[in-house]
Amino acid sequence: MPEPDTTLPITLDAAHLAPNVTPEMVAAQTARLAGAQETLRNGTGAGADFRGWLDPTAMVDEKTLTDIEDIAADLRENSDTLVVIGIGGSYLGARAVIEALQTAQGAPPVLYAGQNLSARYHADLLQSLEGKRVALNVVSKSGTTTEPAVAFRLLRALVERQTVGAEEAKKRIVATTDAKKGALRTFAGERGYRTLPIADDVGGRYSVLSPVGLLPIAYAGIDIRALRAGAAACAEAAAEPDPRRNPILFYAAARNLLYSQGFAVEILASFEPRLHYLLEWWKQLFGESEGKDHMALYPSSAEYTTDLHSLGQYVQQGRRHLAETFLWVEGADEPPLPLPEGDNADELGYLAGRPLTEINQAAYQATALAHREGGVPNLTLRLPRLDAFTLGFLLYFFERACPISGYLMGVNPFDQPGVEAYKKNMFALLEKPGNANETARLREAVNRVPAGALIRFP
Ligand code: PA5
Repeated sequence: MPEPDTTLPITLDAAHLAPNVTPEMVAAQTARLAGAQETLRNGTGAGADFRGWLDPTAMVDEKTLTDIEDIAADLRENSDTLVVIGIGGSYLGARAVIEALQTAQGAPPVLYAGQNLSARYHADLLQSLEGKRVALNVVSKSGTTTEPAVAFRLLRALVERQTVGAEEAKKRIVATTDAKKGALRTFAGERGYRTLPIADDVGGRYSVLSPVGLLPIAYAGIDIRALRAGAAACAEAAAEPDPRRNPILFYAAARNLLYSQGFAVEILASFEPRLHYLLEWWKQLFGESEGKDHMALYPSSAEYTTDLHSLGQYVQQGRRHLAETFLWVEGADEPPLPLPEGDNADELGYLAGRPLTEINQAAYQATALAHREGGVPNLTLRLPRLDAFTLGFLLYFFERACPISGYLMGVNPFDQPGVEAYKKNMFALLEKPGNANETARLREAVNRVPAGALIRFP
């Protein structure tokens, strides 16, 4: 047996941050960083009731982990496809991990619903599921979020029709929700669905390593114990107080220094398409955690080399308010895929026989340098490979860096009051009971068109 690789998987490369951010500037933040770490660890900051994810091993005890594995195995036996129904933190983590790691042939597909209100999306999904044995994992902590509740109704009807009735459907539906309260908890109890708990002290965007993420990830055939072990290894490493020896603290300090210098956007960029939803998950984590009180870096993403032929122009030469974080996967486990020999009509003779991994790496190195020289300070988080342990480590890396960064900035990194604004308006427009007194005002407001504001072709 080969020795397990116990090297901690993330290395932060800050070479292209200077002169905006240097190791010395970060070292000068040590006391502030220690303060933010302490605030997080001791629960003395805003949102302290939502730190249940800090210890990934304690968050999901052995019994719950085994329950998750058993339910996943049972669902796999009784279905061809799992649809995860959720929005925001209730689905992005699972999708990030599954789409990054589920490469094995024959693994059952996992699809997603309830993350938008598009009739076409859901109609197409329902149609594609006809004739398949469909399992559902409906995930909602509050149990009242409109998007997943709507999708659950639509999909439940399909499953009940397929299984001929609510009784048989029970075997194919699992609800992940608040342990004690909420509409979904009550409904699941009435219908006799199997349930998994979301702890009070774990908010949606910090829940990927809880039952919220772990059930769909296990269904997809991914090793949830390795994922959790990676997160636990990162949690242990996170205690190092010196930011020059702790990439989590370095990253949190760097983004705050950049913000204080007037940078307004952080682009998380990768050269690996499998990380698309990891980028989406990261945007939600930082966007909902820090984007309040009219502050924070706007979290954006780019997928290279694809976006080098679109957004790349702006990044290189547009407004200079961009900073960038590269996620670079060294690709130890990737297929090298050497370029075949051929005549030189495509002018690629110089690349013949060289692996695609080397060409992609040259593209990454070239981009990081060009962006730095174009005025975009950037750092790189290097990962040796994409596997469950490494990804668990990376997820926890960002989860831990995010509230430290938020506390440095002075915001509550665990609430999301701004999300309510559209909901209140939507409920009033749809005349949800209890909101109807606002309906007239909102209808008037959405239909009001100031003179000259509606522009039509003649
Ligand atoms: O991170 C969060 O807390 C949010 O994105 C929630 O996960 C999202 O709004 C869904 O909420 P719920 O799980 O209550 O349906």
